[in-house]
Amino acid sequence: MIIELSLMNKEQREQVIAKAAEQIRNGEVVAFPTETVYGLGANGLDVSAVRKVFAIKRRPLDNPVILHVSEPDAVKDICRDIPLEAWDLMERFWPGPLTLLLPKKDVVPDEVTAGSSLVAVRCPDSEVARALIREAKVPIAAPSANRSGRPSPTRAMHVNEDLGDEVTMILDDGPTGIGLESTVLDLSMSPPMILRPGGLSREDLEQVLGVVNLAPGLIDMEAAPPAPGMKYTHYAPEAHLVLYEDLYPFEAMRNRITEEHEKGNSVGVLCFADQAEFFSIADIVLTYKDLIELAQNLFANLRIFDEKKVDVILVAGVSESDIGLAIMNRLRKAASELR
Ligand code: TXA
Ligand code: MG
Repeated sequence: MIIELSLMNKEQREQVIAKAAEQIRNGEVVAFPTETVYGLGANGLDVSAVRKVFAIKRRPLDNPVILHVSEPDAVKDICRDIPLEAWDLMERFWPGPLTLLLPKKDVVPDEVTAGSSLVAVRCPDSEVARALIREAKVPIAAPSANRSGRPSPTRAMHVNEDLGDEVTMILDDGPTGIGLESTVLDLSMSPPMILRPGGLSREDLEQVLGVVNLAPGLIDMEAAPPAPGMKYTHYAPEAHLVLYEDLYPFEAMRNRITEEHEKGNSVGVLCFADQAEFFSIADIVLTYKDLIELAQNLFANLRIFDEKKVDVILVAGVSESDIGLAIMNRLRKAASELR
C-alpha cells in the first residue's frame, strides 16, 4: 500500500515513520524514498529479514546489498579499520549519493555482503529515510525497490507496479531528486575505484581523493547472464533500445525512424527538448531540458516507453562528464544496440 507522506502534517508523518520502523524491527520489509531511487528496506543485521528482501525482488543471492545509516558515526558499529579518507568523504558528501565499501564487522551477516569481507554503506539525503533508520535503531539493508531486471523506481508508483502485492508499506515522498542510484566506491584499493558511477560525480570525488579509477567494464552484478549477442541486459526495457554514442546522430536517427516505420514498428525517441521538432515523425517523443532532468526522469521514461509498447527506442548519447557518466552507464545497460 502506498502511504503519501506529502499530504500529512508533521505529527502524522512521524506516526507513519514510527510504524514503518517498528515493522523493520519486527523483521518485515518496507519501501522508502531516498534522494536517488526508492529502496526496499529491512533490518540489515537480521538474516531472515534480509532474505525476504532478496526473495521479494527475485534478486540473485550473490548480489550484495547496501546498508543505510542515519549518520557517519553509525558506520563504526558495522565497519572496522575505517581509513581517514573514508571519514573525509563522509564529512564532505554525506548525507548524499555516495556508497563506500569498507571492511565489515562480524555483526554484518554474510547475506548482506554475499560473502565479501567488505560491506557497502551509505547515508541517504532524505529526511524520511534517515528518520526511518534512526527510529528502527538498526542499519537498513536496501537495494533499489524494483523487481530485478526492471528500471529502478523513482516514484512510489513504480514500486507499487513491481512489488505492490508483496510490500505492505510503501512510503511515498514524491519523485526522487537525483533519479539514478548512488556512486559505489571501493576504498580498499589505491587509487580508489568507482564500481558503479552514480549520483555523485567522479569529478567531485577526485577533489577529495586525487585520482579515482573506474572499474573495468563497470559490471553490475544485478544483471542476468547476458543473452547471446546482447551486450547488456540489466535495465533492459521490453523495446529494442538503440543508443547512439556518435555526437551528431540526428540524421541517422531520423532515417532509422523511417526504416522502422516501413517494417511496421512503432518508435519512441528520447532527446533534448530543442531537438523534439526534428523527430516529430516518431510515435512518442520524450524530452529533457538538461542532464539533471534526463537523470531524474530516465527510469520513469523507460517505463513509459514500455507502457506505450513502442517496438524501438532511439536515444542520443550524452557527454560522459559529471552526471553524464552515470547516465551513459545506465543507458548502455538498457541498450540492445550501440551505434
Ligand atoms: O542509490 C542507491 O544506491 C540505492 C538506494 C536505495 O540507496 N540502492 C541501490 O541498491 O541501488 P542496489 O542493490 O540496487 O545496488 C547496489 C549496488 C549493486 O551493484 C551491488 O552489487 C553493489 O552495490 N554492492 C553492494 N554491496 C557490495 C559489496 N559488499 N561489494 C561490492 N559491491 C557491492
Ligand atoms: Mg538496483
